[in-house]
Amino acid sequence: MSDIVGLQGEKVRLVPVDKRLHLENALRWMNDPEVTQHLVTTTGVTPGMEEEWMDRVQKRDSEFVWAILDETNRHIGFTGIHGVHWRLRLGTTGTVIGEKPAWRKGYGSDAMRVRAKFAFETLNLHRLQSESRIDNIGSQRALEKAGYKREGIARKKLFWGGRWYDTVLYAMLDEDYFARTR
Ligand SMILES: CC(C)(COP(=O)(O)OP(=O)(O)OC[C@H]1O[C@@H](n2cnc3c(N)ncnc32)[C@H](O)[C@@H]1OP(=O)(O)O)[C@@H](O)C(=O)NCCC(=O)NCCS
Repeated sequence: MSDIVGLQGEKVRLVPVDKRLHLENALRWMNDPEVTQHLVTTTGVTPGMEEEWMDRVQKRDSEFVWAILDETNRHIGFTGIHGVHWRLRLGTTGTVIGEKPAWRKGYGSDAMRVRAKFAFETLNLHRLQSESRIDNIGSQRALEKAGYKREGIARKKLFWGGRWYDTVLYAMLDEDYFARTR
């Protein structure tokens, strides 16, 4: 596994995405409907698409994507800050724990906390935001546990399995983060 120290949380470590180490798992997870059912991208990915994505995010200064490792250095998912707008100091976040036995063990919310620390203490961002399908209770609980606040509902925004779903907007501001860490 990776020797890169990365960002250390209570349970997880976030390391930069490396195709040689993380591509195979990405393909397995992003083609598993149980993992992707709540996501915007649910159509499956090819090796070419996934490699292209990994190359692209590494080159851009508006994308920060990490592989999530557990306490034993096992790769269990991905998390990222996307589309950073440097004038508004705004980033959009997403997390996928792809190893299903690792769900509900605190890894997702810990990864979100470490990511917030980096966003506010290193990147000097002002706002992190995330959107979750209305029935994705796991995502909403994890975001709340990490310090995000529920801001509102977007009606019938995602189409999946023949029906429309509302989404819930969550955000954490720098002031929310520093109030928690003080
Ligand atoms: C959503 C996701 C990131 C959550 O990560 P996780 O590691 O499973 O979540 P955590 O263990 O940190 O859980 C945080 C809280 O949410 C609760 N929770 C997690 N999944 C839950 C579920 N499916 N139903 C109800 N509560 C749930 C946990 O019990 C915990 O609450 P507690 O501390 O009060 O017990 C992860 O399940 C995942 O990647 N799912 C598939 C992809 C996805 O939906 N990503 C999010 C897109 S917006």
